[in-house]
Amino acid sequence: MTDYDIRLLDDSEYRTAHTLFRGTLHHGPAPDEQWKFARETYDEGRVFGAFGGGEMIGTLQSFPSRLAVPGGAVVPHAAVSRVGVRADWTRRGVLSALQRAQLRALRSGGDVFASLRASETAIYGRYGYGVATRYRSLRIDRRKAAPRTRPVGRVRLVEGEAGERIAHRLFAELSPGRAGTISRWPAWWSLNVRRVAAEENIKIAVRSGASGDDDGYVAFKVAPGRHDSSEEKPTTLMVLDLWARDAEAWADLWLFVLGVDLVAEVSAFGRPVDEPVEWLLGDRRACRVTEETDETWLRLLDVPTALSARAYRQAEPVVIGVRDAYLPENSGSYRVAADGVTRVDDAPELVLDVDVLGSTYLGDVSFTTLAATRRLDVVDPSALARADALFEVSTPPWSGTFF
Ligand SMILES: CC(C)(COP(=O)(O)OP(=O)(O)OC[C@H]1O[C@@H](n2cnc3c(N)ncnc32)[C@H](O)[C@@H]1OP(=O)(O)O)[C@@H](O)C(=O)NCCC(=O)NCCS
Repeated sequence: MTDYDIRLLDDSEYRTAHTLFRGTLHHGPAPDEQWKFARETYDEGRVFGAFGGGEMIGTLQSFPSRLAVPGGAVVPHAAVSRVGVRADWTRRGVLSALQRAQLRALRSGGDVFASLRASETAIYGRYGYGVATRYRSLRIDRRKAAPRTRPVGRVRLVEGEAGERIAHRLFAELSPGRAGTISRWPAWWSLNVRRVAAEENIKIAVRSGASGDDDGYVAFKVAPGRHDSSEEKPTTLMVLDLWARDAEAWADLWLFVLGVDLVAEVSAFGRPVDEPVEWLLGDRRACRVTEETDETWLRLLDVPTALSARAYRQAEPVVIGVRDAYLPENSGSYRVAADGVTRVDDAPELVLDVDVLGSTYLGDVSFTTLAATRRLDVVDPSALARADALFEVSTPPWSGTFF
């Protein structure tokens, strides 16, 4: 018996939920000007509240999105965010009850996946979320960088909403080319780009090549400081978002940001682990990787649909046994083969919890690695090589969208 209830919130309760969530992060209520943008991110049927003692004591929500999976399919996905329980109600199971309600509702609503960014890594595995993509952050000392090559196309600055429109269009076109990317809901752009653009002087530069078509963009801002020193508060150009159709456009966009004058350092947050920025530089040590860490925590809500959505490499089949405590209808054996996935009654060769399946699903980590770290049960050791071969991908998955 609990002394709190969970239910969906309605329009009149979103601001209370927003204030509650901000409070759990030790921030005060959003001022009206900020709430105007945040309000758009609250979608009917996607915001839950917990109530105790007649007050709201916890909340969590999701944004409607789609996930690109290996092979190119783009599948319904919920981006879970704004998770918070009031400090005087923590460690009494409120988050677990919110999660239970949300996972059930998302699956019933047709979302095949949920994903989140974890503030703390100890929390979300128990609800079936596993680390599925990683990112790295960089700092480049611009005075030492000495790029080895020069731009071959044209990069131009596009001011205001025109720049945002181009970025929006190119992102929608280019991002699904990599597994792990997610579509951005309309309010993502207004909250993360339009609102911040005015306050923080975000610039958008667009690249075009020989055909004259736009084929990439970079959004960035410059934090003023000292441009002649990289030690004491250097003037830093921060790359916020960079997408390109091909390697040529990608290199031109990086060469552009490295070429902006009166900047001591170029930094980039949340970039793909395989992005070869160092190789553009005359002195590769000018580029420091300041962070390499978990990005997407992925939750398979509907395991059979998720497994059938992605493509597999040619290899002998494997039977995987899945355990899912929160959505038990997912529990069972799945025969994964290059030509498709079927639910079977066969004894599994590998047995794992659904969070571990989330980690392997996009191909970022192998079954062998997770077996070595005792995250799955190996019934037939020969199954590991087959599972690794089937799930293998050539490009590491990456999301590139923070929420
Ligand atoms: C994180 C938070 C939502 C957890 O809420 P909660 O209601 O205390 O969680 P529960 O009581 O349901 O705990 C569920 C389990 O997770 C564990 N847990 C919860 N928060 C944890 C934390 N911060 N670190 C480690 N374990 C944690 C609990 O010990 C419990 O474990 P058990 O199932 O083995 O008993 C809450 O502490 C909070 O609002 N924190 C600040 C805001 C925040 O970090 N939001 C997250 C993303 S923006």
